[in-house]
Amino acid sequence: MPEIAYINNSFTPLEDATVSINDRGYLFADGIYEVAITRNRKPFLLKEHLDRLQKSADALLLELPLSLSEIGEIIKAGINQAGFTESMVYIQITRGVAPRRHNYPADIKSKLTITFRARPEYAPNLFSQGVAIITVPEIRWSRCDIKSIALLPNIMMKQKAVAAGCQEALFVSKGGIIRECTTANIFIVKNQTLLTPPANQHILNGITRSYILQQATILNIKCIEKECSIDELHQADELFITSSTIDLLPVIKVDNLVINNGKPGPLSQKIKGFF
Ligand code: PDD
Repeated sequence: MPEIAYINNSFTPLEDATVSINDRGYLFADGIYEVAITRNRKPFLLKEHLDRLQKSADALLLELPLSLSEIGEIIKAGINQAGFTESMVYIQITRGVAPRRHNYPADIKSKLTITFRARPEYAPNLFSQGVAIITVPEIRWSRCDIKSIALLPNIMMKQKAVAAGCQEALFVSKGGIIRECTTANIFIVKNQTLLTPPANQHILNGITRSYILQQATILNIKCIEKECSIDELHQADELFITSSTIDLLPVIKVDNLVINNGKPGPLSQKIKGFF
């Protein structure tokens, strides 16, 4: 099945898609992105992803090249054209092409690219056995709510996690407040209650995070969005991480500390059933 890209207003095989050396995404990481998946061959929570794309664009004074509904139509067409059983759609908008200078011309035109690939399959034992994570210092900027393509700290820390044989790295502030992982949000389960850091400028407000909070509330599972300390993390009954690509993965080890006797807990299993 061919992977395809949408670039310069048309679909093309992924390997033929190229961008200008003067694209500010390439030069400065001056751009934003979204990663969305399909479920039962249909885009999952696409409106929420597109709304967040608009928010990221607004925060960076970046004008979208097309309307959200036009982008949505292109995404649906691309999913059909690629024809994967389940797709992963990567949407990127950069500020556009201009000779390298930090400030940009007023008339610059933003560039949309979208890639369509098979949704990565995670080994079932990642869920059934749970994963380990490490904690790392928060070295990112103070606008982590913007889904920017500038991801160096995330990349460096994810690499560190993988080198340590772990799934993720969790950013922790100087004051010992937990934020989020490099590519996922975090939830603590304590006394049958879900605790998760608030959606402020310190984290990306994950679409999966919001979906879980919404579904949990419908099922009368108590949810609290609040700043959580590293001590609360250590004393968790259960922990799990969430994102569009993984849905939910239980965490059974943080650094050297084993959580819930090294087993995914019952509430994590119940919430996995939301997907
Ligand atoms: N990342 N926090 C960060 C820093 C992320 O990069 C992501 C997702 C999330 C979870 O967001 P959502 O539930 O909307 O996927 C939280 C994507 C998957 C990525 O960069 O590949």
